[in-house]
Amino acid sequence: MTSMKPDDISISYTVPGMKPDEATTVIAILQDRLNALNDLALTLKHVHWNVVGPNFIAVHTMLDPQVDAVRLMVDDAAERIATLGGSPSGTPGALVAHRGWDDYSIGRADAIAHLGALDLVYSGVITDQRAAIASTEDADQVTQDMLIAQAGQLEQFHWFIRAHLENADGTLSTAGAVGEAAAARSAG
Ligand SMILES: [Fe+2]
Repeated sequence: MTSMKPDDISISYTVPGMKPDEATTVIAILQDRLNALNDLALTLKHVHWNVVGPNFIAVHTMLDPQVDAVRLMVDDAAERIATLGGSPSGTPGALVAHRGWDDYSIGRADAIAHLGALDLVYSGVITDQRAAIASTEDADQVTQDMLIAQAGQLEQFHWFIRAHLENADGTLSTAGAVGEAAAARSAG
């Protein structure tokens, strides 16, 4: 994990009323969200293309609105970095260099296997999003407000995924699975 550190960020101005060290702290948090959400949008498209089996069209069709919404979140995070006086990093090489998670590991597979794996993907993204919300509480509530709105959407998309994995008694077929491959197997 080589997340960007606030000390690595130099800015010459920021929004009025904010201290430079608060701005660099928030920019580092936003860069990590930018990376995670960009990765999520690409991963959702990858699943859109690789899903097969009887439930193909339901999952294929469900994912595109999620891709569109997550891409808007990426744009908002990047433009908030620029607004705070920072330089958003949006290249694939920088994303891979600074992310603390592995590439999505599943290629062509049944809908239920991808849904099981996406349950884990969304769990990771949302856990980190909520941590970012907590970390921006004091430094910048404008950024925090944006992150909160994104979290609400991400949590609804996660429910769309989980509703396919939920039994009538309310339990998830992926409960307790560690890693995407295990979650994909449990889901099936
Ligand atoms: Fe498509």
